[in-house]
Amino acid sequence: MASVSVTNVRKSYGHFEVLHGVDVDIQDGEFVILVGPSGCGKSTLLRMIAGLEEISGGTVSIGSKVVNNVAPKERDIAMVFQSYALYPHLTVEANMGFSLKLAKAPKEETRKRVLDAARILGLEHLLDRYPRNLSGGQRQRVAMGRAIVRNPQVFLFDEPLSNLDAKLRVQMRSEIKQLHQRLKTTTIYVTHDQIEAMTMADRIVVMRDGFVEQIGTPLDLYDRPANLFVAGFIGSPGMNLIRGKISAIGPLAFIADGGGELPLPAGAALERGAEVIYGIRPEHLAIGQGAVTADVLLIEPTGAETQVTASFGSDHLIATVRERLELAAGDTLAITPDVGKVHLFDAKTERRLVLA
Ligand SMILES: Nc1ncnc2c1ncn2[C@@H]1O[C@H](COP(=O)(O)OP(=O)(O)OP(=O)(O)O)[C@@H](O)[C@H]1O
Ligand SMILES: [Mg+2]
Repeated sequence: MASVSVTNVRKSYGHFEVLHGVDVDIQDGEFVILVGPSGCGKSTLLRMIAGLEEISGGTVSIGSKVVNNVAPKERDIAMVFQSYALYPHLTVEANMGFSLKLAKAPKEETRKRVLDAARILGLEHLLDRYPRNLSGGQRQRVAMGRAIVRNPQVFLFDEPLSNLDAKLRVQMRSEIKQLHQRLKTTTIYVTHDQIEAMTMADRIVVMRDGFVEQIGTPLDLYDRPANLFVAGFIGSPGMNLIRGKISAIGPLAFIADGGGELPLPAGAALERGAEVIYGIRPEHLAIGQGAVTADVLLIEPTGAETQVTASFGSDHLIATVRERLELAAGDTLAITPDVGKVHLFDAKTERRLVLA
């Protein structure tokens, strides 16, 4: 196992820079997820760590060694791709043992390591099969097995679950997390799915357009998003985000540009009249009491909870509640935001305002 440090890393294709100085420090044994919208540079960064992509600036270190000029196979990493990239003409066993065979490891040793990995992944009964005779989830496990067999310092995963159906994705998510709890190998995992990131990671790196927006534990990002982008990206349904101003006079309140007022924590140190964005998560809106009124547009029961979309001035508010409400489109609701859970962002810089 090893730590991984990415320091001021840049990547350009010709004159086009796609990573603009990325810093990430990953501890030995940590499970870190790179998340962000399509095209933000996640795969590029992962491939630079793997050595599959030249580094235009900055350094990548594995352990304490700078590996910028170290060949991929000398980096002691194993990568699992979205496509799995299994050899179709080789059995599961031969696929899993392939890298050891290349390295001319003794046959006995290879067989033992393949069997150990197969046992961990529940593949023992499939060792003689060919990839074409496996389900998507089984192929995914073989690809992981091939990585485990190498016993690398670092695992790199690039969207390994995106070819699987929703149910299998959830299952593999917990299998990968349990695998990490057993092996404790430093892992860097790329996904664009924020739920995958929230449920699996020790820490999440949120990226956008070649920049790191925030690094933190899943709950850090959820509870204290550093800016508007992270606030909107993490959480589903997303945080309600409404543009407006802090009241210039009278009691402290938020005045939405689209009409309507929302409460703020009493005594919050806020500049009167400032243009801000008010953020409140759907589960922090209580329904059935309070001075804020909104008109129901849509009721969506999921079974465990109910999601209510309501119009509030020219904005929308989404609330999720555990109760089963007798509501219909067109009803007027009273809503109470939990003022202790309000987030405010500067309208210009989009950075989080501290409401101490
Ligand atoms: N070989 C290349 N030449 C030029 N531009 C490239 C090349 N490879 C990637 N890019 C650009 O680099 C940026 C980052 O791409 P990257 O594949 O890292 O995104 P990503 O975050 O992994 O996205 P996705 O979620 O869609 O996989 C994109 O704008 C992409 O168009
Ligand atoms: Mg990608």
